[in-house]
Amino acid sequence: MSARYERMRDAVRALYDRNRQRGTAPWCGLEYDFVCPSTGTYPFQWFWDSCFHTVALAHFDVGRARSEIRSLLANAQPDGFVAHVTFWQRERYEEMLATYAIAYRTPYLSDCIQPPVLAEAVAAAAQGEGGDAFLAEVMPRVVAYFEWLDARRDPDRDGLVATLQPDESGLDHTPKYDAYLGIERVEHAEFTRAWERVAGPYAEVGRDHDRMFALDRFVCADVLVNTIYAENQRVLADLLERTGDGDRAQRYRSRADATTRALVEKCYDAEAGLFYDRVGRDGRGRLRVNTVSSLMPLLLDVPAECAQALVRQIEDPLKYRAPFPVPSTALDEPGYRKPTADSKLVWRGPTWINTNWYLARGLRRHGREDLARVIEDRSAALVERSGFREYYDPFTGEGFGAEGFSWTALALDLLADLDGVR
Ligand code: GLC
Repeated sequence: MSARYERMRDAVRALYDRNRQRGTAPWCGLEYDFVCPSTGTYPFQWFWDSCFHTVALAHFDVGRARSEIRSLLANAQPDGFVAHVTFWQRERYEEMLATYAIAYRTPYLSDCIQPPVLAEAVAAAAQGEGGDAFLAEVMPRVVAYFEWLDARRDPDRDGLVATLQPDESGLDHTPKYDAYLGIERVEHAEFTRAWERVAGPYAEVGRDHDRMFALDRFVCADVLVNTIYAENQRVLADLLERTGDGDRAQRYRSRADATTRALVEKCYDAEAGLFYDRVGRDGRGRLRVNTVSSLMPLLLDVPAECAQALVRQIEDPLKYRAPFPVPSTALDEPGYRKPTADSKLVWRGPTWINTNWYLARGLRRHGREDLARVIEDRSAALVERSGFREYYDPFTGEGFGAEGFSWTALALDLLADLDGVR
């Protein structure tokens, strides 16, 4: 291991000690032990954040990596659903909650999803001694979650799952939804109103899935979500193989292939050389906005011409090749915004480490180790210069958003790839 990796690992360990939340929750009588995204703004347990934290934790404390997953799955519902936020210590933060736009299943659990990074996280936590026992413990709930996604979010059975409100993609204010949501001014209040135009009618129908789909307010075959879905079904298949469930492993492998195929058939725009979300219950609409989401299928086994087109985007200085790549919106998109200290709008331009984590791997899988190395090195450099921030200016490397932000620790995993230690 390089000295650079070791310094990063020590910094992540210190951050994760500061952001650790431990206790027993009176509302469910369960113990929790997880890393929150940021003590200042996000003190609860978020789904995809927690999965990323697990990947980082596995580098230095596999016991805590497993606790992170146990806490995430502790309140899995009988139908398989896992909330995108678990408000373990809700009572301490009532004032903060008043500022969140969120749909609740119970006062302590949100009623929406986030990108299903779960199988990748479980695979990281199942490394090393005790991994098989850990898998035996958690796999039933992990499988139940993916069964739920398939049963409830893919009514047209095309292999793509639908998000039903913008925050389900984890890309809250991305410009790709502006037109679909009727956003006219790029202001926080406008996004809250747009969210309410979707969540209000959902509340009226009791957030029943069939009725939410029928309302046709926000039905999105999201490229980022479905790329992660495909990858995680494939990783789940490997985990099932490891636990001796070969039949089910085969089923998940086919499902992963079906999701990948559907992404190419329905979302790839050959003229633009980009993947675009499909929207509407009939899937006819297309969100033709170039964001980092459009590049994500590089992670998958997509045809060579698609992969080459995406690589060209990443290499293009007018699109994504900034000094600190990869910006969350193409630099020449009208919706692109430079980060500013006072903006609460996320995913409109700055560079994030979690999407870099996926893109660097995608580049390696498609034979572009040279470019992957640039992203790995620049991602670590952002943390070294500006600390663990939520996102960064792609030109100056300055950090913005939450401080002490936990998933940015994925830079450690990127450094492991740069060092070639896997
Ligand atoms: C923001 C991000 C979302 C993340 C959450 C907690 O809402 O858009 O993806 O999960 O913060 O970090």
